[in-house]
Amino acid sequence: MSTYAQELRNTAKAMVAPGKGILAMDESNGTCNKRFEKLGIPTTEERRRAYRELILTTPGLSEYISGAILYDETIRQFSQAGVAFTKVMQDAGMIVGIKVDAGAQNLAGCPGEKVTEGLDGLRERIAEYYKMGARFAKWRAVITIGNRIPSGTCIEANAHALARYAALCQEGGLVPIVEPEVLIDGDHTIEDCYEVTDKTLEAVFNQLRLHKVEFDQMILKPSMVISGLTCPNPANVEQVAEMTIQCLLKNVPVTVAGIAFLSGGQSNERSTEHLNVMNAKFAFQCPWSVTFSYARAIQQTALEYWRGNDDKTSEAQKLLYHRAKLNGAASLGQYNAEMEKAPTLV
Ligand code: 13P
Repeated sequence: MSTYAQELRNTAKAMVAPGKGILAMDESNGTCNKRFEKLGIPTTEERRRAYRELILTTPGLSEYISGAILYDETIRQFSQAGVAFTKVMQDAGMIVGIKVDAGAQNLAGCPGEKVTEGLDGLRERIAEYYKMGARFAKWRAVITIGNRIPSGTCIEANAHALARYAALCQEGGLVPIVEPEVLIDGDHTIEDCYEVTDKTLEAVFNQLRLHKVEFDQMILKPSMVISGLTCPNPANVEQVAEMTIQCLLKNVPVTVAGIAFLSGGQSNERSTEHLNVMNAKFAFQCPWSVTFSYARAIQQTALEYWRGNDDKTSEAQKLLYHRAKLNGAASLGQYNAEMEKAPTLV
């Protein structure tokens, strides 16, 4: 049992407090730059910093966002006024989170599949991040659905790494967000996705047990059970909500502190609708809170509006706040399409 056990329980509970979710803004420099390039934003450290400041200083964001996941570059940065981002967050009432994985690399012997790296030196990095003010961490594993994949090898290798990461986090005082993402790319059916998600979650929880991870001191960040992006007969919102909850109820121990979904390339509206129906229809069956930890589905509208132009910062913040609010409502099953009406911009 970690000496941090009670603190970890409290943090995990706060991360999934009613009506709130976790904002993912931990894009690596490579990923952030790709999103900037598409919009003609200079891919400099200063523009990444300015964008992250826009997010973290959004007025009222903590009404719907309990904490945000930062990237290593961001956790070391300061606002224009010279205040460390970690302090900006703490002052605004948001918990500091940090991505600690080193990214997914090709898995030897398994063409088309990846394994997430970053265990070497992780204990020391966790200690440094804790000192800087971080209280939770994230590690993302990716599972690809395709011709005869995922292999058992890929699922087990990723589950093992997730469990070792989670155990190290709890030892060092960070709540682990355990993120096994089954990718949405492909033309697979929702049934294919259910089968793969089921196998993946089973393997992940077996490994977490083996590595003595405390379930009440962790957050699961799963993908939804959903049809592939190019599936000719995509499932509807009700089916996604029902099959996702069914898969979670089958695999996730009741003591897990909370569930916070990734958006995974779904549209903004769909990400919100799916979460809403899960809560509106199935919350009574769920022993855990079911909320969001979206990146693209919260940030994208604001980023596209901002486009690197500082004159547009405060309007972009309104768009970000709006999406956070809608997802906050969805986490309570209180969202409806009427609420989509965009905020008035000057
Ligand atoms: P998306 O919501 O854009 O899928 O990102 C969530 C995340 O943190 C991926 O690791």
